[in-house]
Amino acid sequence: MTAASGTRDRSTDWWRDAVVYQVYPRSFADSDGDGLGDIPGLISRLDHLQELGVDAVWISPFYSSPLHDGGYDVADYRSIDSRLGSLADVDALIEQAHARDIRIIMDIVPNHTSSEHPWFVEALASEPGSAAWDRYIVREGRGPDRETPPNNWRSVFHGRGWSHVRDTEGNPTGYWYLHLFDTTQPDLNWDNPEVRAEFRDILRFWFDRGIDGFRIDVAHGLVKEEGLPDFDYSAEDEGARADMFDEDLAHSPFWDQDGVHEIYRDWRRVADEYEPPRIFCGETWVPNPVRLARYQRPDELHTSFNFDYLMAGWDADRMRRSIDETIAQHAAVGAPPTWVLSNHDVVRHRTRLAPGFDNETRLTCEVDDERGLARARAATLFTMALPGSMYLYQGEELGLPEVRDLSPDDRQDPAWHRSGGTDGTRDGCRVPIPWSGTTPSYGFGPADASWLPQPADWADLTVDSELGVEGSTLEFYRSALRTRRAEDSLGEGLLAWLDAPEGVLAFTRPGTESGVTVVLNLTDAPVHLPNSWGTSVLVESGDEVAVLDDDGREHLVIGGETAVWLRA
Ligand code: GLC
Repeated sequence: MTAASGTRDRSTDWWRDAVVYQVYPRSFADSDGDGLGDIPGLISRLDHLQELGVDAVWISPFYSSPLHDGGYDVADYRSIDSRLGSLADVDALIEQAHARDIRIIMDIVPNHTSSEHPWFVEALASEPGSAAWDRYIVREGRGPDRETPPNNWRSVFHGRGWSHVRDTEGNPTGYWYLHLFDTTQPDLNWDNPEVRAEFRDILRFWFDRGIDGFRIDVAHGLVKEEGLPDFDYSAEDEGARADMFDEDLAHSPFWDQDGVHEIYRDWRRVADEYEPPRIFCGETWVPNPVRLARYQRPDELHTSFNFDYLMAGWDADRMRRSIDETIAQHAAVGAPPTWVLSNHDVVRHRTRLAPGFDNETRLTCEVDDERGLARARAATLFTMALPGSMYLYQGEELGLPEVRDLSPDDRQDPAWHRSGGTDGTRDGCRVPIPWSGTTPSYGFGPADASWLPQPADWADLTVDSELGVEGSTLEFYRSALRTRRAEDSLGEGLLAWLDAPEGVLAFTRPGTESGVTVVLNLTDAPVHLPNSWGTSVLVESGDEVAVLDDDGREHLVIGGETAVWLRA
């Protein structure tokens, strides 16, 4: 087990149990009325994050980008998209966040550049086989006319994973470049030392400006298997849905290759040159906690997203199994686990966990939205008490649901267009945040519209409408995060399961003086809690906690689909 929280140096170890809030900058706050969120907008809302009680903010990319994939197509890693602000704005953001004791984590995208990056522009003007092309993954096509792509790899966003390298007249050359995502996101060749040196330099550029760390996009994807062999897609083809993050795809010649670890050892050396050391969190879609923990070996990444838990759904057995494996595998490498329920790539957990939600028909299935909110709050409270650090996604503190009825014309996710509208539903969690007022853009910015339209019925989900209102989701998050910070047993440390009835998960977190008992009732019926678990409520996700008389003794009953923290 890792060090108890009381003996740690928080100036360097803050990340071990931090609550990190993800900002999707184009959807957070718009300062200038162009309908697109920006950095000055984010700065103007830092008080909200401070009062919420988060330790750090991770900001999705705000680099110069043609926005073919929401900024995950970077044209220049050292400049800011002018619609979002300037380098001076980022400096101000760092300064103002630090003044509030909030750390800044940026997003780095090393698997691919934008096709508008100067390197790719240079490659397009050069002959295949040139040094310019060697920064990307380029191969000759198969067949007599080289008309067949070099292998059968597909794009995560549907369609084939290779596109023709064309000459300056636009004619195919017989060579193809790899893009595991959109055609405008060519994969970099990480065997090329120039690529490695460039990214070390980009890390230093931002670390020198004072950022505290990086979230690494597609961290499991940088290295491809030697020889680029074909992949057997039969599991995916037979499976219900070819999803962006399909588990069957995780074992493949393009994900989670052993060679990626050397890159992170190199990056760790760079991060450790700084005082305090800078940190990394990997976006690692790997098949299980065993593969995940390999990224957290002491000389690699500090943390990684634990998507196994995110995918566990509303299922007591799966959740418990995922928690146990995650804790055991991380303990073996001395790293703290992380927990996350929502981000900018998945259906918001209020909708995803709701009764009736079906991944197959995720845009059209009928869901019980109110129970979805109850479950989301319960799952969140339970998750916040797990050992390690926690990632929150903007708007979940308001209880925002997924917006599922965006019109095809409004949708921007490249996977939507590449799949002919059958997939790529990531826009629904990226709809701009409602801050105040009763009509769009709900205080998001000076204009009455935003780049993705907000629903007409969000007046009760704004920050202003929830602030100070007892029982609101915002006040619930604030009180849970306040308590998490105050209790020395929460954050990193030990967890001991308690025997609980079917469909109920319960554990204690022992503290130096007193601990916390955490109960999640996944059933829809109330459960009676034994007094030995504790009788004083610290935080509850629902309002159904009651003290009842039973055989002359008092004890607690919590409602269905509810979680509670008790003084142990
Ligand atoms: C990551 C990002 C996602 C992006 C993809 C390609 O999975 O989270 O939004 O589309 O990488 O960069």
